[in-house]
Amino acid sequence: MPITHKTPLLDELEKGPWPSFVKDIKRAADEGGSPTANDLLGQLELSYEQKIGHWKHGGIVGVFGYGGGVIGRYSDVPHLFPSVTHFHTLRINQPASKFYSSEQLRTLADIWDKHGSMITNMHGSTGDIIFLGCRTEALEPCFADLTANGFDLGGSGSALRTPSCCVGRARCEWSCLDTQDITYNLTMTYQDEMHRPAWPYKFKFKTSGCPNDCVAAIARADCSIIGTWRDEIRINQKEVQNYADAGLDIQKYVIDLCPAECMSYQDGEIQINNKKCTRCMHCINVMTKALRPGTDVGATILIGAKAPILEGAQMSAVVMPFLKMEKVSDDLDDNYTELKDFIDKLWEWWDENGKNRERVGELIQRLGYRAFLDAVEIDPIPQMIKEPRSNPYIFFLEQDVEGGWERDLEEYRARHQA
Ligand code: HEM
Ligand code: HEM
Ligand code: SF4
Ligand code: SF4
Repeated sequence: MPITHKTPLLDELEKGPWPSFVKDIKRAADEGGSPTANDLLGQLELSYEQKIGHWKHGGIVGVFGYGGGVIGRYSDVPHLFPSVTHFHTLRINQPASKFYSSEQLRTLADIWDKHGSMITNMHGSTGDIIFLGCRTEALEPCFADLTANGFDLGGSGSALRTPSCCVGRARCEWSCLDTQDITYNLTMTYQDEMHRPAWPYKFKFKTSGCPNDCVAAIARADCSIIGTWRDEIRINQKEVQNYADAGLDIQKYVIDLCPAECMSYQDGEIQINNKKCTRCMHCINVMTKALRPGTDVGATILIGAKAPILEGAQMSAVVMPFLKMEKVSDDLDDNYTELKDFIDKLWEWWDENGKNRERVGELIQRLGYRAFLDAVEIDPIPQMIKEPRSNPYIFFLEQDVEGGWERDLEEYRARHQA
């Protein structure tokens, strides 16, 4: 189908070395024959001309029994572009780590050719498969085809968002966790929380197999699960020698860049003071053959990351420095129970105290880490800091301090001279 709108401004975006979304939308309109893609080009060009958006935000659309998974969108100029009168977005739960067979990809593409605009986003920032541009009456048939082929919608709105993870042990030798199993387990355990929004705002789980944190869990997930180890970095001194022979300046690029200053290189061998190591992964990333994470592996659980909306951006903060996270049985309920007990208490507290649109990290900021720890029944420990090596989160209450706040200053000064 030929494109029926002139798009001189959009055409500019096809120039240059980068892939262009304009080119993609044109392909869907032209080769694909999608009238939705065609009118999308027209409406977007108009927006660029007038420097004003033409989408109406909001509106409740969805599929029967679910409160989320579809984000409603309508054009405010439907008389000019009738094929984008409705332009809803479907979020579809991706497989953990985003592994597909080509057959599954074809199935998804066929379903979307049949019911929608042909425009996809693989993958959204949520991790989901995103189908962009669906009419209201096509939602149920599209959903029926997806579920018949083993796919389900993901989370949107004030719900649990689709959990996501890095490739983990499937492809990465650094992974300290079975990231796929954790993600699958959380997804299946919390189906109700994902499909039926009931909270102050969104909540995300993201799982990275090691501190490289390829899914950026620490910056994006309300609950970040990051693989780590508590024994020693494995060193292969023969490979250390090979790196030196190949010309790597080990002192300059590895030892001197260790943020904990806990490494040394003498007589052709690397030594590490593992007690001081912060598991930053730098040395392992540089000397992949010589250094590897330890073998006593688990996860650090952190809480409260978010992008700015009410407050500024926040990274998540440590709540459990080390938790063993191995699968112990085939029953979902038997696995990761310590994490889930914590999560249940956390959600209860957030649900009870959170204001509308307040992420759990903002609630902690407002009421204090201390109140959060009381609610989840965890004792404060030194690893709970707001920023590395600076400010502790924990402020003592009067009953925690021997003798309370009231002191006999005379008596104190007698013992401690000013
Ligand atoms: C110059 C144009 C555009 C820019 C710079 C842009 C940029 C972005 C970025 C940076 C993200 C987050 C991506 C990620 O981390 O996965 C995003 C997400 C998204 N974009 Fe765009 N975008 C553009 C055009 C469009 C258009 C034309 C559409 C709709 C037809 C669109 C719909 C979306 C949606 C629905 C998401 C969210 C996906 C999710 O739910 O995770 N964007 N965009
Ligand atoms: C076709 C047009 C658009 C599409 C498909 C789109 C899609 C989306 C999606 C999928 C989300 C995430 C919702 C969620 O996570 O629950 C979102 C959020 C958001 N969009 Fe849009 N959007 C569009 C136009 C706009 C426009 C024109 C604006 C601003 C003028 C806008 C501002 C925002 C903001 C501020 C959020 C964050 C809302 C929140 O989660 O609190 N969007 N949009
Ligand atoms: S986060 Fe670590 S384990 Fe996961 S893919 Fe990245 S490097 Fe590998
Ligand atoms: S992981 Fe980081 S902190 Fe630990 S020894 Fe290597 S460079 Fe140093």
